Amino acid sequence: MLAIESSCDDTGAAILIDGKVKSNVLVRQVDHAKYGGVIPELASRSHIKHIVPVVDTAIARAGITKDAITAVAFTQCPGLIGSLMVGACFAKAFALSRNLPLIAVNHLRAHVLAHFIDAQPPFPFLCLTASGGHTQLIVCHSHHDMQLLGQTIDDAAGEAFDKIAKMTGLPYPGGPLVDKYAKNGNPHAFKFATSEMKDYDFSFSGIKTSVLYFLQKQQKTNPQFIEQNLADICASAQHAIVQMLMQKLLKAAKQLGITHLGIAGGVSANSYWRNALIEAGNQRGLTVYIPPFEYCTDNAAMIGITAYYQALNQDWAGLDTVPMAKSTGL
Ligand code: KG4
Ligand code: ZN
Repeated sequence: MLAIESSCDDTGAAILIDGKVKSNVLVRQVDHAKYGGVIPELASRSHIKHIVPVVDTAIARAGITKDAITAVAFTQCPGLIGSLMVGACFAKAFALSRNLPLIAVNHLRAHVLAHFIDAQPPFPFLCLTASGGHTQLIVCHSHHDMQLLGQTIDDAAGEAFDKIAKMTGLPYPGGPLVDKYAKNGNPHAFKFATSEMKDYDFSFSGIKTSVLYFLQKQQKTNPQFIEQNLADICASAQHAIVQMLMQKLLKAAKQLGITHLGIAGGVSANSYWRNALIEAGNQRGLTVYIPPFEYCTDNAAMIGITAYYQALNQDWAGLDTVPMAKSTGL
């Protein structure tokens, strides 16, 4: 199976044989740091430039030829529409020219099922996906049946990391840099406001405003405040975000009696969150699942594993399947 991921700015292609990943290639070429964020038109153009070489590389690294491919999967939603369109058109053209079946994959489902690439968590499996665009707490009852418990009502967790990073002058995407600087900081140096949402929903706009006002106030008396305290600011903001994520995840595990839980999406690459989850698992007797780094952020292997389970379920897509910026469900 050939799987394509093109929902945002990374062009990915993977080859899977019987649900096993044989190659997973990813290219990120746009210098978004120059613009402080992803420019959709530049992302689309980058996909057009890279999709053919990325697919060729995935096929070569898997040690197969094009003729061996028996199905084609692509990300249908959610994402930047121009970017999705490039992957969808490529996948359809490939499938049509070779008379192969197509599989349309929901990117958010794929972040969750990334856990099933190298492991087999038993059901029910509780997963918190935190990426640049989404924060979703999900219970998987099977590979096909996912229930959304709650989500963010405003910014996504990754967006909060990126915006706070920007306030401190760090380039986009700031999440990984906050993680890096926080390693030398004190997570309890500053206390930032965290939001208490009802049930299993999240809100990250409060912490963002709290950090902003705090920095503005400190800079009035000390213009060098950020430079002098960067590690502590990063560590304290990271602590506040991770605390909000962990609190809802552990609350759901306790209330629903689920003992197998995982984290997914770009923010699950965060070292402080990964450690916090391992610690909570040890303390509470929970089995925790943390994806390898290459399966945390966007990648085509997770599209492939999702498509593999959809294919087992005979869940094929027609050539008239259109990409969608928003997903209608999970
Ligand atoms: O899942 P992903 O690659 O793309 C989306 O589907 O959005 O997630 C990207 C997000 C960005 O906001 C990025 O800053 C964040 O994940 N991220 C991190 C780390 N690595 C990536 N946030 C905190 N710590 C990290 N180590
Ligand atoms: Zn993603």
